[in-house]
Amino acid sequence: MKEQAVNGQNAVKGISPKVGVIGAEQAEIDLLLEKLSSCESFEYAGMRFYDGYIYGVPVTVSLCGVGKVNAAMCVQILAVRFGVSRIINTGTAGGTDDRLSVLDMVVSSDAVFHDVDVRTFGYAPGQLPGTDSPFFAADPVMLKAAEKAFSGLGGDFFASMEDGSFSFPVKNPASSEKRFPAIVRGRIASGDVFVADKELRRKIISTFSPACVEMEGAAVAQACTANGLPFLILRSVSDMADDGAGMPHREFARRASMMSAAVVCGMLESAGDWNISPDN
Ligand code: ADE
Repeated sequence: MKEQAVNGQNAVKGISPKVGVIGAEQAEIDLLLEKLSSCESFEYAGMRFYDGYIYGVPVTVSLCGVGKVNAAMCVQILAVRFGVSRIINTGTAGGTDDRLSVLDMVVSSDAVFHDVDVRTFGYAPGQLPGTDSPFFAADPVMLKAAEKAFSGLGGDFFASMEDGSFSFPVKNPASSEKRFPAIVRGRIASGDVFVADKELRRKIISTFSPACVEMEGAAVAQACTANGLPFLILRSVSDMADDGAGMPHREFARRASMMSAAVVCGMLESAGDWNISPDN
């Protein structure tokens, strides 16, 4: 991989339609970096951008850091410096739908800020002045592509996540069949908070009914919407966002990051099905 730090215009490769992929933490993009070919690396605003190809698809994979401001800045850089035409945000999340288990996947139907509150001036919970709705809708074609990519992962992949300290539970005591991860469509609620408190979790659920909480998705969604870029947020559950969620998060973040990145890889492998330039 050729390392290069630049500040200027020459980062744009000008190949379209290019896919931008955003992860907040290194583990969330490691699998993608392994698959990158012809990769050049750039730095803007303290963030890393890896520009190259995965399965022949032009991509810029970025490491944005944690939180909404980082995520929004990253989208803008991907849009104006790297010329991406759609964006996938990959990573981990805290589950807020009790049907979910650790390592299940959530694919965004839409995204909302759970920490935005301008109700004093008549706005809905989560709604920012200047927007029509608190909810930013994800791209339905990318959503279906993610579900298809997930269904292609298979038992061998899930089994590779097991080791001496973790194995998936069996479905019932009479069988040895395991409960491998599932994928659900649902709302992503984002805020500059690591939710590890059952009262906050309850409040977020009662206000927004999300499938999961995390710290970047809605900012990616807002910035993509402002730039006319179709987007998708993919998250694998690392914890249940309740009291003491930091501990399971630490234990499962690496596996959850890999799960989500594997779905992104699957999407890129069949990008011909969904990666159509908005201009086409
Ligand atoms: N990412 C993973 N787990 C999370 C949680 N509980 N809260 C916010 N972001 C998360």
